Amino acid sequence: MATTITVLFFALLLSAFASTEALDPCATIGGQKWVSPKDLRACFTSFAVNPVIKQNIVEVINKTLAFHTSVNYEISAPEPFTPFVHEDLLKDLSRISAQSYPSDYDLHIDFSRTLKRLNDGHCVWINSCYVSLFLNFLPIPLALLTDSNGIQSVHIAPAAFAVASAEFSDEIDVWQEALPPTIQLETASRYLLLSIDGQDPFVAVDANALITGSFQPLGTRQNSFFSSYQFGASGWTYIMGDFAQQSLPLNDSVTLVVQRVNESTTDTIELPYRARINPTTVSFNDSTSYRANNCLPIVGTNGVDLNETASSAAPISETVLQFQQQPPILKTFPKERINVMLDTIPLSDIALPPSLVPTIPVIGGGFGSGQFYMLPDNITGVFALGSFGGDTIDAMMSGMLQGLVNLKSLGASQLIVDVSNNGGGFICAAEFLHRIIVGPKNTTVPQAGLDTKARDGPLARLIVQQIIENNLDPDQDLLYNPLNWRNATNVPFTADDDWLLPPVNLTINGHADAFSQRLGQECQPNGFTSTPPDNALFAAENVVIVSNGRCASSCSLFSVITMAKEEGVKTVVLGGKNDVQQAYCGTVGGESSVFSEMDTEVKTARLKNNTLAPPDLMVNGVQGITWRLGFGIDDPTQPEEWQPHPATLNLQLTPDLVNSPVAIWTNITQQLLSAKN
Ligand SMILES: *[C@@H]1O[C@H](CO)[C@@H](O)[C@H](O)[C@H]1NC(C)=O
Ligand SMILES: *[C@@H]1O[C@H](CO)[C@@H](O)[C@H](O)[C@H]1NC(C)=O
Ligand SMILES: *[C@@H]1O[C@H](CO)[C@@H](O)[C@H](O)[C@H]1NC(C)=O
Ligand SMILES: *[C@@H]1O[C@H](CO)[C@@H](O)[C@H](O)[C@H]1NC(C)=O
Ligand SMILES: *[C@@H]1O[C@H](CO)[C@@H](O)[C@H](O)[C@H]1NC(C)=O
Ligand SMILES: *[C@@H]1O[C@H](CO)[C@@H](O)[C@H](O)[C@H]1NC(C)=O
Ligand SMILES: *[C@@H]1O[C@H](CO)[C@@H](O)[C@H](O)[C@H]1NC(C)=O
Ligand SMILES: *[C@@H]1O[C@H](CO)[C@@H](O)[C@H](O)[C@H]1NC(C)=O
Ligand SMILES: *[C@@H]1O[C@H](CO)[C@@H](O)[C@H](O)[C@H]1NC(C)=O
Ligand SMILES: *[C@@H]1O[C@H](CO)[C@@H](O)[C@H](O)[C@H]1NC(C)=O
Ligand SMILES: *[C@@H]1O[C@H](CO)[C@@H](O)[C@H](O)[C@H]1NC(C)=O
Repeated sequence: MATTITVLFFALLLSAFASTEALDPCATIGGQKWVSPKDLRACFTSFAVNPVIKQNIVEVINKTLAFHTSVNYEISAPEPFTPFVHEDLLKDLSRISAQSYPSDYDLHIDFSRTLKRLNDGHCVWINSCYVSLFLNFLPIPLALLTDSNGIQSVHIAPAAFAVASAEFSDEIDVWQEALPPTIQLETASRYLLLSIDGQDPFVAVDANALITGSFQPLGTRQNSFFSSYQFGASGWTYIMGDFAQQSLPLNDSVTLVVQRVNESTTDTIELPYRARINPTTVSFNDSTSYRANNCLPIVGTNGVDLNETASSAAPISETVLQFQQQPPILKTFPKERINVMLDTIPLSDIALPPSLVPTIPVIGGGFGSGQFYMLPDNITGVFALGSFGGDTIDAMMSGMLQGLVNLKSLGASQLIVDVSNNGGGFICAAEFLHRIIVGPKNTTVPQAGLDTKARDGPLARLIVQQIIENNLDPDQDLLYNPLNWRNATNVPFTADDDWLLPPVNLTINGHADAFSQRLGQECQPNGFTSTPPDNALFAAENVVIVSNGRCASSCSLFSVITMAKEEGVKTVVLGGKNDVQQAYCGTVGGESSVFSEMDTEVKTARLKNNTLAPPDLMVNGVQGITWRLGFGIDDPTQPEEWQPHPATLNLQLTPDLVNSPVAIWTNITQQLLSAKN
């Protein structure tokens, strides 16, 4: 009897052991570079919701939103954005609070998509425990191509194999082997897609447009499905697009009906997605180490009391740096303000294939994410500007000036500025660019950007009062310090000006709201680290700004909107469905911020104990916000955020043009610049 019990006991013990091992779904993917999305999802979904952490995230997001300017506007944005922006965040957070979820991963998806429904790249929730831990790839980025009759169709991008074979050299065989021998990935580039998962490809494009977030205009979100390019800090990069790259393991495989080039027969193929570990993921080998290494708060997740740490700026978390859509900025002073998008996919470092990289002469002046070229006509200069980040503000301003002056001295009389995928960066660098291109005028001096306003909630008001009454920010490090701002006529506030009083009371979508008085410019003269020339470098009618519509934050706020609306500069959007209005920018904002910065304000102002203060975050996450919101140009009483930005020209992409910067610039020169001379 005793023996039987002992044996049974051991058997149970052993099987418990065996099954724990077999059942740890995160051990299956631990230490691997490439995994199947199904295995990744099995790991992600194996964690139940922890009610304490769920409540913590709800509270952090909810209380941080009190600093986000746009909460009430986004309940129902004005036309033409009403169909795209109608999210009541506070209501949805209550819903999430009350709802149960099969796993913590399912809860994450609900948080993430709820915020993404704003289609506002400044107000995004990212939890690094899941987001882009692995990136889920297909080797066939897509392109929307237009034929000589104007007919548009979805194709495998012409450069697909060149990109995939270089970037995924260690995995491309796995994909090739999944295909019938008659289909070679190498020759599949340009294949026409007749269907995706049994439906018209635009069903998948539009389904993605509903969850991709980041940009208000529909056309821009449709375009994010497709491949594009960017001039980044490491040179020309290729962006796979949402079909070929996902930040979460959403899809396991895709079934496509394809038609070969110049042939009428079709093939049905099924390709698996494969998930590759992100370089910033901390390696792990089981559930415990996965959570411990990737899911807990890190340095910079929460703010600090600057007085206690005796520093002038709180550390910025690696998570924020990874998801801000700019190469890391190098701040000389903490007060250099930024306006930048957050996205769930980190900036791409996938190389643009050599056949597409510009080989025309590079002109001196290049810096971080900026490069200058002269087209072969010797009169068209090009400024490729993938970001307002990626360098110091000084290097950026002196480089911009140097490059444009060089182009002019070489005979350039017209200019193309290519801001494809420019997600923003330094605000004053964007204003400087506007100022130096068009010269000193009433639209550039003293204000070359947009006037703004901040949200005037009770906690914000207390922060300002604490700073003033207790002199808590002697070095002017805090955003709420009156000394950092000027009023609408550009007169600086004094140390004891309570700039949040009296509030501007508004009723927005039926909700009482309050904002600061209108704020004027903050860049001139001290924020300009190079001296702007006395004359315009280029006549506005000889300048064209081109992008794929994914120009956000500092990119849209200042250079593009002000250049387009105030100076009449022409704008071009690359690609896009021809029956959908294409916008030359989106996600305007004014100044962006994140939870940890608000937490630093709260802690330094000694208000962490206030019931309105967000608690410290218990996960490796970030909540973004618009801290200041820009006023419009056409309607200066309303935010620019939801005013239309229609492009002058929607350049339809052909196999020769798609993702080929020089071909695109040459075409634009002929259509919009030289032709009129
Ligand atoms: C969010 O905060 C508001 C106060 O601003 C509060 O009334 C509401 O209950 C909070 N919602 C959740 C889900 O915590
Ligand atoms: C991915 O899966 C979702 C459902 O989870 C589906 O709606 C979508 O169309 C799929 N995407 C692709 C590209 O197959
Ligand atoms: C398709 O046909 C066109 C025109 O006949 C030809 O120029 C092109 O090379 C062909 N492409 C392929 C991949 O066969
Ligand atoms: C997992 O990695 C840790 C070190 O990071 C190591 O101590 C441990 O033995 C590993 N466990 C397994 C099961 O490999
Ligand atoms: C912190 O605040 C105290 C009291 O206001 C002040 O005496 C001290 O100098 C401050 N410390 C730093 C590093 O600013
Ligand atoms: C442009 O300048 C280059 C170098 O000076 C010269 O070789 C070329 O002929 C010029 N092209 C035109 C169209 O003038
Ligand atoms: C700026 O100057 C132009 C003329 O150059 C004038 O039409 C416009 O009204 C001025 N705008 C402002 C805001 O003063
Ligand atoms: C800005 O401040 C100055 C000095 O206090 C004042 O004269 C001016 O009226 C203020 N402007 C606005 C728009 O309040
Ligand atoms: C703004 O609203 C608050 C109440 O929310 C009120 O106390 C205050 O008087 C209002 N201010 C103005 C200028 O109307
Ligand atoms: C918060 O309150 C506790 C207890 O009342 C106090 O010990 C602590 O110093 C307070 N913290 C701050 C930042 O005010
Ligand atoms: C520019 O590209 C379009 C296709 O979008 C093409 O129809 C047009 O002929 C091209 N124009 C020039 C001047 O190359």
